[in-house]
Amino acid sequence: MEIAVACKNIKKTYGAGTTKVEALRGIDLEVKRGELLMLMGPSGSGKTTLISIIAGILMQTEGECLLSGINVNKMSDLEKTHYRGKHIGFVFQAFNLIPMLTCAENVAVPLLINGGERKEALEKSKKLLADVGIPEKADVSPAELSGGQQQRVAIARSLINRPELIVCDEPTSFLDHETGIKVMELLRSIVASHEKTLIVVSHDVRITSFADRIVRVEDGKII
Ligand SMILES: Nc1ncnc2c1ncn2[C@@H]1O[C@H](COP(=O)(O)OP(=O)(O)O)[C@@H](O)[C@H]1O
Ligand SMILES: [Mg+2]
Repeated sequence: MEIAVACKNIKKTYGAGTTKVEALRGIDLEVKRGELLMLMGPSGSGKTTLISIIAGILMQTEGECLLSGINVNKMSDLEKTHYRGKHIGFVFQAFNLIPMLTCAENVAVPLLINGGERKEALEKSKKLLADVGIPEKADVSPAELSGGQQQRVAIARSLINRPELIVCDEPTSFLDHETGIKVMELLRSIVASHEKTLIVVSHDVRITSFADRIVRVEDGKII
């Protein structure tokens, strides 16, 4: 089985002196390709820090993280940005959609900032909005959508570059139970149909049945 993510002794310290926080204290974690891994644990345990390091948004203090055997941190900044944009999708807790853009434009943003052609980008984006079940929302502002629909837009955006790895930070935390289940069903179907690897941070015990494996983080360590 191919290993999509391998974290080796990851440590992360924020700040220095009296404000120093040891957010991660030596994380070893392997995630297989095609797996839906759920990271659970109390608030402040280091979950967001860990997936931000895996996604390359944040740099660890010690240790290394390989993606499909590649140490992305050994690349130049430009190569790193390019690699991340192409291979990793990130779904945030708070959707992070741009209200001045239509839903289709929001989904197309990762393509457009990489110099993609607008018409083609919007066509791809509309297809993805159909895939996530809201084709009729392509031309409206995300402000007009429900929370569940906005999260679908954010998921579509994370998929537009066809990344192999998708990390989601508490994707259901602002959603009611039923909508949360629907979003998890959608994420589950993405893993099943596209052989993606998904890491989902959550402390929502009602959605654990969607995981292939659950890993608990406490106080910066896997327990
Ligand atoms: N940018 C930051 N600066 C300083 N401390 C931080 C920063 N981000 C997170 N922390 C601290 O690191 C620890 C882990 O935080 P986080 O990864 O956000 O945990 P979780 O996502 O599990 O709630 C917490 O003690 C938090 O206060
Ligand atoms: Mg968090």
